[in-house]
Amino acid sequence: MTRQTHSRRDFLTRAATATALGLSGTTALSGVSAFATPNVQSPASGPTEGLIPYGSAVRAGALQSDSTYREAIIANCQLVVAEGEMKWADIRPTRGEYRFEKADAIIDFARQNRLEVRGHTLAWYGGLPKWVDEISSRTEAEYELIDHIKTVVSRYRGVIPSWDVVNEPLVDFPESAASLRPCVWTKYLGADYVPIALRTAAMVDPGARLVLNEYDVEFMGPRFAARRKALLQLLRALRDRDVPLHGVGLQAHLFADRAIDRDGLQAFLAEITAMKLDVLITELDVVDYELPGKVSERDALVAKKAAEFLGAVCEVVRPKAILTWGLSDRYTWVPIYFKRPDGMPNRPLPLDADLKRKPLFDVIEQFRRKLA
Ligand code: G3I
Repeated sequence: MTRQTHSRRDFLTRAATATALGLSGTTALSGVSAFATPNVQSPASGPTEGLIPYGSAVRAGALQSDSTYREAIIANCQLVVAEGEMKWADIRPTRGEYRFEKADAIIDFARQNRLEVRGHTLAWYGGLPKWVDEISSRTEAEYELIDHIKTVVSRYRGVIPSWDVVNEPLVDFPESAASLRPCVWTKYLGADYVPIALRTAAMVDPGARLVLNEYDVEFMGPRFAARRKALLQLLRALRDRDVPLHGVGLQAHLFADRAIDRDGLQAFLAEITAMKLDVLITELDVVDYELPGKVSERDALVAKKAAEFLGAVCEVVRPKAILTWGLSDRYTWVPIYFKRPDGMPNRPLPLDADLKRKPLFDVIEQFRRKLA
């Protein structure tokens, strides 16, 4: 039997109690949720009307332990997304158990500080707990995937208006839309896992915007052209089957030494907008491991790469949101995979490790204002 550590009813009851007790304020990460009431106030980051909303991936642990980071998120963001706390590994540590403490902490923080939340992510090959390897049939895979999406999306219905439902479905170098990345979901459900995930999310929260999130679609070269082509094929196949989908997330983990394929990217975006799908920039940062060590030079190249990318995108479409995958170089995934050979810290994000604005911050700001 499924044991839920916290039910939606508990969650909403706690929220209602918190609201009645006046517990929503700017104190972050209380154990009590105040997210049942609608977010009617303007964001704490100041007047943002008409600007593309800017946000960042956040870490619950750092929000809890690091007040300067927390204040920087509040000061600069209108929306946040959990970097890991809404992935399967965190929510489903063991089979039959749902744990929402860390996800709720982020929701509470957002609510208390009048930030919106994006959900990340429901159907992905990565971020899975070990027990998922025990799944051994189509029936089990379908049950676990649907149960997960029903449980998580219903818990945050009306609270998370936009979900990365399907994350990174394609193989690195796809031949076609059928080139889906092998994982537990494709092993047992084949390509059906994508419509199953989207339909379940739509059924549970018909008001949520459902996004398919993908990376490596912006660069020059055959692999990236193949990815754009396969992704468009996949989107058309979903549309032809009336599968609910509202947007495409461009992760935009840029590499300073990779050229943006301006024409290829713009043609790709034109096709997406022709399908009446939103475009969101969901995980922007610039991997700097092969850039010169000199910080001023490196920061300028990072900003230039982002400007090149945003310039190409914004000529074709106004993204519904721009999120970076972290706000400050103090907390970034980049060194997990792309440590610098000279041992210097990576600098992929808008604020440096001391939370000072870098040229990348200004570039994002310029594009938001330009499209206001
Ligand atoms: O929680 C453990 C901790 O207990 C342990 O001490 C530490 C030792 O390395 O590892 C911690 O877990 C790591 C976790 O991040 C928290 O930092 C995992 O090993 C590590 O695999 C995990 O990486 C995350 C990765 O997704 C996989 O879930 C990154 O933080 C996160 O930034 C990254 O985010 C992805 C997006 O979801 C999808 N797009 C690409 C993006 C960047 O890779």
